[in-house]
Amino acid sequence: MLVLGIETSCDETATAIVRDDGEIIANLVLSQMEEHRPYGGVVPEIAARSHLAHLPDLLCRTVASTEIPFAALDGVAVTSGPGLIGGVMVGMMAAKAIALVHDIPFLAVNHMEAHALTPRLVEDVEFPYLALLASGGHCQLVAVEAPGRYQIFGSTVDDAIGEAFDKTAALLGLPYPGGPAVEAAAKKGDPERYALPRPMKGRPNCDFSFSGLKTAVRRTIERETNSEFLVADIAASFQAAVADVVRDRSENAIRRFKTEFPKGRQLITAGGVGSNKPLRAALRETAETHDLAFVAPPPPLCTDNGAMVAWAGIERLRAGLIDDLDFAPRPRWPLDETRPGPSR
Ligand code: KG4
Ligand code: ZN
Repeated sequence: MLVLGIETSCDETATAIVRDDGEIIANLVLSQMEEHRPYGGVVPEIAARSHLAHLPDLLCRTVASTEIPFAALDGVAVTSGPGLIGGVMVGMMAAKAIALVHDIPFLAVNHMEAHALTPRLVEDVEFPYLALLASGGHCQLVAVEAPGRYQIFGSTVDDAIGEAFDKTAALLGLPYPGGPAVEAAAKKGDPERYALPRPMKGRPNCDFSFSGLKTAVRRTIERETNSEFLVADIAASFQAAVADVVRDRSENAIRRFKTEFPKGRQLITAGGVGSNKPLRAALRETAETHDLAFVAPPPPLCTDNGAMVAWAGIERLRAGLIDDLDFAPRPRWPLDETRPGPSR
């Protein structure tokens, strides 16, 4: 079974062809980073135009490089939300056209579902498992039961975790995207130099909050104007605070997961922030303390890519979850919401 995946929901134009045995036959990612960098964040209008300009060529290159014609595919999967509406529409139009012309199944994929299922593309991960989905737009602890079946244990009440990294980077004068820049700067810093807050730590639920942490970073910068290692020390202290919070929130989620899903054996992370090494280390330690195995995809499969969408398409196709061509883009689309439309 071969599925084409298309991802255009944020600032990466990405396409991939994946086989159901997990082989990634093609995986092309075109980052728009340079186009958005002058603005310090993703500009939706620029993103949509750039997807429109580059997706046709990327699709042609994907097919040409593999010598697999569209008609030989078993399905075309596309991120249909949540995300920036302009980009999502560009991807969906392309996918629907391919599905219609070549008479192959159309698979509308939830972007967070694609992140959540990616560990199964690279390793032996069995349902049910617990996932920390950590990206630029989301931060959720989710029980993954099956394709299309998710239970959200907790999520952020304000900023997403990647947003916290990006805003902290901007405050520190580090380049966009902030996550990798903060991680690199933190390597030379002292994580105990500044006692930043640990929002939500100790609360009985599995929710997150990051806006207070960002404010504390801003205040620290304003106060400490002449410290030689300010950037590195704040980056390290910030990252340590985030890791601490993630450890605490994940422990609550693990306890709940073990009660509700006693057969579950794994904790996974995915999404752009899931590529952060100290965070992965904190999660591994937490998982192992509670007798769970920890799995995280390699960093290029954590950040947005087409392979994760193609793989989610394969999982959905196997489960018989094919969509109609009138499936509408869903800029907001909670993972645990029943899917709309006549096919469901
Ligand atoms: O999943 P993703 O590629 O796109 C969304 O779905 O949002 O995640 C992007 C986010 C950005 O906020 C970026 O700064 C963050 O992931 N990120 C990281 C790292 N790499 C990417 N955050 C922390 N450490 C990293 N190494
Ligand atoms: Zn993402």
